[in-house]
Amino acid sequence: MHSVWTLSSGEGSLEAFSIRYCTACFASLSQTGFLLALLSLGTICLLYYLSRPLNLIYDLTGAKGDKYFKLPAKNDAMAKEHLKGRLQRKSGKSIPVYPNGWFGILESSEIGRNEVKYVMALGKNVAVFRMPDGTAQVVNPCCPHLRVNMGLAGTTKTYIECPSHGWQLDGDTKKWNNIQGAEKVPELAEVQTLRSVEVNHIIFLWYHAEGEEPPYEIQPLKETTSEGYMYVGRFECLIDAHIEDMLQNSADNEHLGVLHASKMGLVGADLDGFWSKWLSLLAKVTPKSSWEPDADNPHLSWSRFEVLVKLFKKISFTSRKQLKHIGPGYIEVTTLLAKTKIYGTVCVTPIGPLTVRTTLRVYGRPSHILMGRFILRSFSNIFEQDAPIWSYGKPRLQLNVVKEEDALVNFRRWYSQFYSKNSFSLDCEQRNICE
Ligand code: FES
Ligand SMILES: [Fe+2]
Repeated sequence: MHSVWTLSSGEGSLEAFSIRYCTACFASLSQTGFLLALLSLGTICLLYYLSRPLNLIYDLTGAKGDKYFKLPAKNDAMAKEHLKGRLQRKSGKSIPVYPNGWFGILESSEIGRNEVKYVMALGKNVAVFRMPDGTAQVVNPCCPHLRVNMGLAGTTKTYIECPSHGWQLDGDTKKWNNIQGAEKVPELAEVQTLRSVEVNHIIFLWYHAEGEEPPYEIQPLKETTSEGYMYVGRFECLIDAHIEDMLQNSADNEHLGVLHASKMGLVGADLDGFWSKWLSLLAKVTPKSSWEPDADNPHLSWSRFEVLVKLFKKISFTSRKQLKHIGPGYIEVTTLLAKTKIYGTVCVTPIGPLTVRTTLRVYGRPSHILMGRFILRSFSNIFEQDAPIWSYGKPRLQLNVVKEEDALVNFRRWYSQFYSKNSFSLDCEQRNICE
């Protein structure tokens, strides 16, 4: 017997079929819509994340460095003993640790109007404050009353106000303006203003062991302020090292192939060589570099790097980098990769004897932001590859070099112009650096 399919309501009817069909369509439509919405949200989040400046901060001093590199010392006391051991010399020679020059001590964004910041640089305590009109000033922070550090004060309004008894120092005249509880303002020693300049979003302090005036100035780098460029991010690292050992890296051509090439800026220290081994299977990297002093300006020198990368023995490209050393602790970097130019400012500033703070700020065109972030990450990785070498060797030892390493000797000769008779030096025989 044949069953008859009837168009009545209920299961199997046209109405039920239409409802089922429409529900399915709607479900699939809403599923697509949901996926599209999710995709858009993901894209917005990704764009927002990429447009946010990167901020990479590392502290590799003392036991923190030992822990980071998985090296034996487990606490600060042991780390200090290791550092003392590294400082010992056979001869009683001392080493200068603070060269004369302009040093970046604070980034502009770190201090707002009417704010005071206490900063340590070149073995000095300094107070940086920003006046209501936006200008930044650097002064000796020692209050002449009871020698309290005025850099610890809260707000300034138009004055630095000592946090201890509230005495107010006029930011313009550097005279004491208001002394709480005293009818007359006594003649007190003026607070010493230190020579400083704010340029390229950095506050620089001039340091000279004999108190001489600067023979050069820091010039604006237009890419740090021009509208067509954006700030990509920054890197900051504190490390136990000698500033000159770190900077001579720019003239050390031979170490590029051995230490950096196989890692291609993609991984950090990699002390056990795991990643270097695998990455070297993917690509062959051939670096070349040169360093030379500027012919006309004694405080300038130039490093140029060219890195040829051959991926899977087929695809090859070249990356170029130029470093302009301006004095002993400031560098402007231009990186050229696939027609993309990325700019950076690097400050290498000794904080105390053999403690150095390095900061890098990166800028690029908005369409090059991904490349900018990659360059910033790779700088951080390359810095990490160098860090154990700077941090765990003997600081500023006499070089024993072969003829092909002339650039290293010439760099040291160039750098020696930044030391003078009274440059603060460490007597390593006393072994008292850490006390
Ligand atoms: S110590 Fe600065 S006001 Fe007293
Ligand atoms: Fe290096």
